[in-house]
Amino acid sequence: MSAALTRWRVRHHRPVAYDVVEAPRLFHPRNRALLSVGRVEGGRRFVVVDRNVARYHAEEIYAYFEEHGITAKIITFPGGEENKRTENYLEILRQLDAFPIHRRDEPIIAIGGGVLTDVVGFVASTYRRGVPHIRVPTTLMGYVDASVGIKTGINFNGHKNRLGSFEPPLRVFLDKELLKTLPHRHILNGVCEIIKLAIIKDATLFVWLEEHGAESIAAGFQNPAGTRILNRAISGMLEEIEPNLFEDELSRKVDFGHTFSHGLESRHEARLLHGEAVVLDIAVSTLIATGRRLLSEREAERIFNLLEELGITLDIRLLDAEHLWQSLLERIEHRNGLQRVPMPAALGHCVFLNDIARQELELAIKALNDRMSLQNEPALQC
Ligand SMILES: NC(=O)c1ccc[n+]([C@@H]2O[C@H](COP(=O)([O-])OP(=O)(O)OC[C@H]3O[C@@H](n4cnc5c(N)ncnc54)[C@H](O)[C@@H]3O)[C@@H](O)[C@H]2O)c1
Repeated sequence: MSAALTRWRVRHHRPVAYDVVEAPRLFHPRNRALLSVGRVEGGRRFVVVDRNVARYHAEEIYAYFEEHGITAKIITFPGGEENKRTENYLEILRQLDAFPIHRRDEPIIAIGGGVLTDVVGFVASTYRRGVPHIRVPTTLMGYVDASVGIKTGINFNGHKNRLGSFEPPLRVFLDKELLKTLPHRHILNGVCEIIKLAIIKDATLFVWLEEHGAESIAAGFQNPAGTRILNRAISGMLEEIEPNLFEDELSRKVDFGHTFSHGLESRHEARLLHGEAVVLDIAVSTLIATGRRLLSEREAERIFNLLEELGITLDIRLLDAEHLWQSLLERIEHRNGLQRVPMPAALGHCVFLNDIARQELELAIKALNDRMSLQNEPALQC
């Protein structure tokens, strides 16, 4: 027998705490929120701003840092899924590396949509093995979803978010006024994630969307009902992700609408926004759930009526059964060997399925096609 081998065990638990805070008029010279974390006196900031946001706010942002005596290097970055790629990630890193900042008290500031905060978050998590960053979402998708969690990522090798990390932001500042310049299509894009949350977890939010969704979309969520919807959606999102920040548990309610959409989004990058792919997945999933009697016909009807009421259209021509099936198979790898597909079980409740059959998926797609062609048929004249 050989002598017992020595073993060392290393244990460490790093606490995570960050605030997601409303910060109206964030770039107003007298608003110190953005500088409430990090060194101010003699301070420097590396700031990445979405190019479309810069069109409206560049002057204000430059003036803000100048007013506070901060040496800022401000660069712009193009939004859009096609820009969430390695070359852009590396380019931001090169620019960052040419601008000295302290490793701990001069946080990087990311101002933009989900693409920008995902890419810049990934930059922050890899530069010097991690430097702090602040997120300022400027799209509805970012406001209710992408910026409030800790995931970062870039697309790689034809796959969405194949490279990425978990990197808690130092703080997230929510300035709803920044959404005022967002095109209508991108408002609806964010609404799809709110609908997802309502169906899978929050029946009250679903009712609020039925009652005030259309009016809030028309107001770009600058109305009181819109504010209530956004705040409830953020609370719900954080309630789900906080106990499972690092996704130790792979069955996640918030993955509703993110099984079949994954493949759709990669294949139709130029055509489909993230939320548009998610809502196609939601429509197919609703019919799978109805087929299993998890949802009643009436509940399914309410879901489709809500989509129509909010002006969300479904491009069902993109639904190819083989392709969606492959997307599900890929998700099984991601979810460590099981489908773990979240499905609504009555509005506002969730179960996880591990036994969706290919034929079931085909039937759901056919049912969706039938439903849509019925909807588009001219009404009978009596
Ligand atoms: N990390 C996460 O947990 C998480 C969650 C959900 C989504 N995401 C990611 O988010 C991305 C989608 O985010 P997105 O929909 O915000 O896309 P995006 O960042 O590409 O922004 C959409 C478009 O809006 C423009 N824009 C941004 N702010 C604007 C403003 N205020 N006014 C006018 N135009 C503006 C952008 O330039 C872009 O053209 C996807 O890559 C998705 O994977 C990440």
